[in-house]
Amino acid sequence: MSAGTDLCFETLVVTVSDGIGVITINRPESLNALNLKVLQELDTCLGRLEQLETLSALILTGQGEKAFAAGADISAMVSMSPGEAADFSGFGQAVFQRLSGFPVPVIAAVNGYALGGGNELAMACDIRIASQNAKFGQPEVGLGIIPGFGGTQWLPAIVGVPRALELILTGRVIDAAEALSIGLVHKVVPAGEALRSAEELARVIASKSGLAVRNAKKAIKRDGHAPLSLAGFALERQFFAKCFEGPDQAEGMRAFLQKRAPKFQR
Ligand code: COA
Repeated sequence: MSAGTDLCFETLVVTVSDGIGVITINRPESLNALNLKVLQELDTCLGRLEQLETLSALILTGQGEKAFAAGADISAMVSMSPGEAADFSGFGQAVFQRLSGFPVPVIAAVNGYALGGGNELAMACDIRIASQNAKFGQPEVGLGIIPGFGGTQWLPAIVGVPRALELILTGRVIDAAEALSIGLVHKVVPAGEALRSAEELARVIASKSGLAVRNAKKAIKRDGHAPLSLAGFALERQFFAKCFEGPDQAEGMRAFLQKRAPKFQR
C-alpha cells in the first residue's frame, strides 16, 4: 500500500515506514479538536491500515507542541439536537472501539493537551506516552455535558472508579506527572520527545513475532472494548444526549466560544 496515494486525508497526516504507522491529527488551529470529519477520516484510515499485513504497530499523535487533541469540537456541538448528539457520541464511541481493537498495538504519543475526546482517544490506545507538558482531563461538566466518546467507561477501567469519579465530576485537569502516578499514562518524557519515544517503543514491538503480538492483543482485547460492556457505552450515549435537552449545554459551549465563564441553571 502506498502511503502517499491511499492514505491522503484532509485532517490527518498518515505515514507508514518500516512497518510502523503514524497518524497525526492535523488541525493545530483548533488544538486538533475532533469534529465529524476527523472521526470519519480516522475511521476510514483505520479501515485501510487494518488491511496492511506488514504493519507492526501504530502511533497516534497531534500536530504541534500544544495539543494531542483538546476534545470534541465544541463549535460543531454547540447547536446539536439531542438526537444529533446521540449520533455524534455513538460514532465517536465506535471509532474509538475500532482503534482499541486495532489488530496491532496502538501507542498514543501525547504531546500536549489531551482533554475530553482527546483523553478518550488516548485511553482507547493500548499504551500512552506523555510529554512533560501534556495535560489530561475530562472537563465536560464545565460545558454542561458529560464525556460522550467512552470516557465514563474507559477512565474507571484505567484509573479505578474513585479517581475517575473525582476527575469526571470536577472536570479537573491534571499534569503528566499526576497522570503517571494514577496509571493514566505509562511513561513521561521531556517535552517534544513523545513521538520519538513512541517510535522507539514501536520498534521494540516490531522486533518481536508479529503473529504473537497480534494474537496476544486479540486475547486481551477480544472484541475491541474488553473488559468494558457495550451496555455501559449505550448508557453514556443516552445520558450524553440528555444533556442536550436542557439549557446548560448551550450556555456552557457558548460561554467557551465567547471566552467567558458559563452561568449554569441552579
Ligand atoms: N473545540 C473547538 N475549538 C477548540 C477546542 C475544542 N475542544 N479547544 C480549543 N479550541 C480552539 C479555541 O476556540 C481557539 O480558537 P480561536 O483561536 O478561534 O479562538 C483555539 O482552539 C485555541 O484555543 P484557546 O482556548 O485560545 O487556547 P488556550 O491556550 O487559551 O487554552 C485549552 C487551551 C486547551 C485549555 C482550551 O482551549 C480549552 O479549554 N479547550 C476546550 C477543552 C474542553 O473542554 N474539551 C472538551 C470538549 S467536549
